[in-house]
Amino acid sequence: MSNLYLYPTWVRLWHWTNAALFLVLIATGVSMHYAGAPGLIPFRIAVPIHNTAGVLLSLAWIGFVIANARSPNARHYRIHWRSLPGDLITQSRYYAWGIFRGEPHPFHISAERKFNALQTLSYLGAMYLLLPLLILSGWGFLLAPWLPETLNGVVTLWLVAMVHLASSYLLVLFLLAHLYIITIGESVFSHLRAMITGWHRDHSTDA
Ligand code: HEM
Repeated sequence: MSNLYLYPTWVRLWHWTNAALFLVLIATGVSMHYAGAPGLIPFRIAVPIHNTAGVLLSLAWIGFVIANARSPNARHYRIHWRSLPGDLITQSRYYAWGIFRGEPHPFHISAERKFNALQTLSYLGAMYLLLPLLILSGWGFLLAPWLPETLNGVVTLWLVAMVHLASSYLLVLFLLAHLYIITIGESVFSHLRAMITGWHRDHSTDA
């Protein structure tokens, strides 16, 4: 068995800060959306917590983008276009079929590639498409008094609300898939342990 150091300290710090803020944003966001429903955080408490968590999430995201661009971790976010169609089919087939028949993982984690093709696309989508949309629309709400009333004939605040709602729902879907995928590594907790310690245990080199 060999160990691979795949999650440097900054990735782990960013990741757990981001995850905690995300859960706070979900709890306070749902409380504001369904304000008045029983069991939720009172509206006047949820608003300042949501706004503060949103600003912190924006800062954490900027930190991630800068650090990732300057670190070797960026190589894991590159799409391998040539093998992409085949890799996607193999990986999807495994998740939909092979995993339930006890087939071996078709993807082998290495220092060069820690994500399979589906993970690469979902992390790219979450980090470089959905989070920016969520953050931009969140700032749109915060800066609403300074925005023009309409944009090309569309009410600006309606547009901001739709983008915020759609990106938040899609990110919650991402989170549910993410939580499932991290439990189907070599063991239920192998990915979680790696994201806590930084080290991935590679069993493929076992004698
Ligand atoms: C309680 C919530 C969460 C848990 C338990 C969790 C757990 C994990 C674990 C175990 C990994 C390592 C496995 C892997 O590399 O595929 C990981 C990676 C990752 N997670 Fe999460 N996660 C959570 C929330 C989130 C959220 C909300 C986002 C983004 C919106 C996110 C984005 C990522 C990204 C981008 C990576 C890869 C980071 C890198 O190595 O460059 N996670 N997560």
